[in-house]
Amino acid sequence: MSDIVAQLESMRDAAKLGGGQRRIDAQHARGKLTARERLDILLDSGSFEELDMFVEHRSTDFGMENQRVPGDGVVTGSGTINGRLVFVYSQDFTVFGGSLSEAHAEKICKVMDQAMKVGAPVIGLNDSGGARIQEGVASLGGYAEVFQRNVLASGVVPQLSVIMGPCAGGAVYSPAMTDFIFMVKDTSYMFVTGPDVVKTVTHEEVTQEALGGAITHSAKSGVADMAFENDVEALLETRRFFDFLPASNRAPAPVRPTNDPANRQELSLDTLVPADPNKPYDIKELIEKIVDEGDFFEVQPNYAGNIVIGMARMDGQTVGIVANQPMVLAGCLDIDSARKAARFVRFLDAFEIPIVTLVDVPGFLPGTDQEFNGIIKHGAKLLFAYAEATVPKITVITRKAYGGAYDVMASKHLRGDVNYAWPNAEIAVMGAKGAVEIIFRQDIGDEEKIKARTDEYAAAFANPFVAARRGYIDDVIRPHNTRARICRSLAMLKDKQLTNPWKKHDNIPL
Ligand code: HXC
Repeated sequence: MSDIVAQLESMRDAAKLGGGQRRIDAQHARGKLTARERLDILLDSGSFEELDMFVEHRSTDFGMENQRVPGDGVVTGSGTINGRLVFVYSQDFTVFGGSLSEAHAEKICKVMDQAMKVGAPVIGLNDSGGARIQEGVASLGGYAEVFQRNVLASGVVPQLSVIMGPCAGGAVYSPAMTDFIFMVKDTSYMFVTGPDVVKTVTHEEVTQEALGGAITHSAKSGVADMAFENDVEALLETRRFFDFLPASNRAPAPVRPTNDPANRQELSLDTLVPADPNKPYDIKELIEKIVDEGDFFEVQPNYAGNIVIGMARMDGQTVGIVANQPMVLAGCLDIDSARKAARFVRFLDAFEIPIVTLVDVPGFLPGTDQEFNGIIKHGAKLLFAYAEATVPKITVITRKAYGGAYDVMASKHLRGDVNYAWPNAEIAVMGAKGAVEIIFRQDIGDEEKIKARTDEYAAAFANPFVAARRGYIDDVIRPHNTRARICRSLAMLKDKQLTNPWKKHDNIPL
């Protein structure tokens, strides 16, 4: 018996050492933590329940039968984050470069299957050279098994990917199908084809970092949601983000009791919007002043800045915030912002998280660039996402709500539950000047007449009361009461029930 125990302990020690001290040192020298060190930070201390520590690959090609490392390059299991269950896998770059073998894939699939059974999120820490080259198609099959589970889990349990090293080739498609991708600056990259292939095919010279680093994906391509300075920051922020999320689509998001009063007034909001309608202001100031304790987890902060999205809490309850940002492109909707917000709205709806929409939008961005690249289809994504969402939807128009963008931004007509406007809101088909230049075209050139018509149009339409008289706006509220009114609406909507007609699935304009 004691022999077996000793054998067990030595096997455990071997598994914990992964690819050996030399490779662990190399990992550290690059500023990267090992797979296990990462889990130590991500999970509550002592909570990790490891699975499949003794799994080995079954390959016998290329001398692989003599190179077996217990665990086969991925550490898997479950644990807790601030007491809440989560399933994890953490790829171990020290073992065959974290490459994915058939057995490695089976381990990942096992935790995904368990997560689906019990209804808990999955967090994947990716650090891998891709398909295990010695295994060929068995490895490709393993990837596809993971992809299939990513799809089936989508909308059932939250899935987060943290990219902490290489992630290339078809391997990128597993993170791509999860809900959020966080990356680490300088040490992680994602691309479908690397710099060498790019050079051969397109003759472009590009570094790994420029092609697929954290800055590229969080600011240019929009593939990644966040870029963090190092492993530790990425993991601690993942813990913080996790706290906002429900365990699954069968469970409500956790409520965090707060000392921030739900009826707190914020007098400074009464002067947030400048008198000049063409002057910008920072919508993030409004967000931070209305959410619990100013705690706002912004997602994709460096991509499509004309729309701001992120998680927060109001009166303890998790909400998703979607807000036009007048500081960037005057808050116009364009292709990138529509795609960014649409995907977020669908995530919120899938996981029953109420949506708070703050509107200050002068319309869709005009131009050939937008039209040629399909603003019609992409803009429709956001419209579609809001219209199909059945979660509580609370909307506050802080200033402009013009044209189609008024409709899109969680308007009453798209089943907005509570639609507020601030007293200075302007809700109309278009701005007064543009409107007058169309309907009084014959007066163009006569400055005086045009000014009079513009003033007349502005007085008639640049206010919230036309919409309020029709019930499109439920109430015109004072800015300082915004938090209190949203919190009260959220409480009122707590047991909201609304279902869409049965269908196999919809056909969102992808
Ligand atoms: C087997 C691999 C491996 C792989 C790395 N290693 N990638 N073993 N299969 N895919 C091993 C190396 O042999 C080495 O072993 C150790 O991991 C570390 O690799 P290094 O090259 O020394 O590290 P580094 O210089 O940091 O380079 C990392 C790397 C490079 C850029 C990831 O290893 C690389 O280019 N690997 C191949 C990537 C690739 O082409 N993968 C297949 C992509 S196609 P030792 O014993 O020396 O420590 C793909 C398809 C997926 O993934 C399709 C899904 C549908």
